[in-house]
Amino acid sequence: MKIQKNISLKPFNTFGIDVNASNYCDIRSNDELISCLDSIPEKEIVILGGGSNMLLTKDIDALVIHLNLKSITVEEENDDSVIVKALAGENWHEFVLWCLDNDFGGVENLSLIPGNIGTAPIQNIGAYGVELKDVFVSCEALEIETKQIKTFTASDCQFGYRDSIFKNSHKGKYIIISVNIKLSKKNHTLHLDYGAIKDQLKESGILSPTIKDVSEAVIAIRQNKLPDPKKIGNSGSFFKNPVISVELFKALQNNFDDVPHYKISESEIKVPAGWLIEKAGFKGKRFNNYGVHKNQALVLVNYGGAKGEDIYKLALLIKSTVKRLFNIDIEPEVNVI
Ligand code: EPU
Repeated sequence: MKIQKNISLKPFNTFGIDVNASNYCDIRSNDELISCLDSIPEKEIVILGGGSNMLLTKDIDALVIHLNLKSITVEEENDDSVIVKALAGENWHEFVLWCLDNDFGGVENLSLIPGNIGTAPIQNIGAYGVELKDVFVSCEALEIETKQIKTFTASDCQFGYRDSIFKNSHKGKYIIISVNIKLSKKNHTLHLDYGAIKDQLKESGILSPTIKDVSEAVIAIRQNKLPDPKKIGNSGSFFKNPVISVELFKALQNNFDDVPHYKISESEIKVPAGWLIEKAGFKGKRFNNYGVHKNQALVLVNYGGAKGEDIYKLALLIKSTVKRLFNIDIEPEVNVI
């Protein structure tokens, strides 16, 4: 374990923003993590996982800890199910592929989500009708202040839509080092309700899909709509989909009878931020070397060499325009640092 000085973080964030960290440490074990934390205790720290949910707007005068803890092991199993433990530095999609190779079901709808295992619980990653919380058993996290490892069950994590305790009261206090996930070994429950999945399977002529077929359908849908971060820098959905009151929704529907929506409760409706941003005229807009993706208005992109602060200014412009036009507040899903 060695602390390096003035390291560019460009290779480590999917937006591809070129900022420097004053101190950087690549971590391969829990012991390394603890001695790294001990070595410069007075410094602020930033934890870097897959770098897929952050927008870096300035150089970081702190210790950036790059968590590279890796291994996937079966912890418990019976005839029907298995509990798998994956360490924080495993790439999420590689983990999904490992599950599919073993015919373990539950995470196929979450195929191709960028990022690492360790960040999945922080924002309760989700796509196509499934969220991490549906398969999550527990996670281990190191408390930064005491250096003690604690176990959090699903209820401890207080999961919500792209939300958990690690984004709220425990923000900045814990480093997730492993996650236990429960998967089915047979009679897999398929989640096909998300319209696009059914259409995609139909298009491929698949009548009784396997979990691998579902994964391939999700991959095809994502590749169609979402830019590949290896080619165009991005961080997936930049904003969360806002939840609004029924009254506000009715006012919106009076003007736009085609507004897509999902009922959350008797009094609340979720509307897609991508739709609002498209209606506000930003879809596909390019400003110099950054902009809004042409196929999905929720995704902000770096065409190469963009500054994080410019992308952030664009995000603020989008937010204020949506507020002015629709009286709806949209909040970033990514961490702006
Ligand atoms: N829409 C538009 N214009 C756009 C984008 C979307 O009109 O530019 C409309 C679509 O036509 C559709 C609705 O908005 O009627 C919803 O779009 P979509 O199904 O693409 O999903 P989303 O709400 O935009 C969410 C997640 C994605 C996830 C998909 C599929 C959030 C913030 N985003 O996007 O997650 O893949 O559902 O489940 O909840 C991510 O978090 O990084 C991410 C990509």
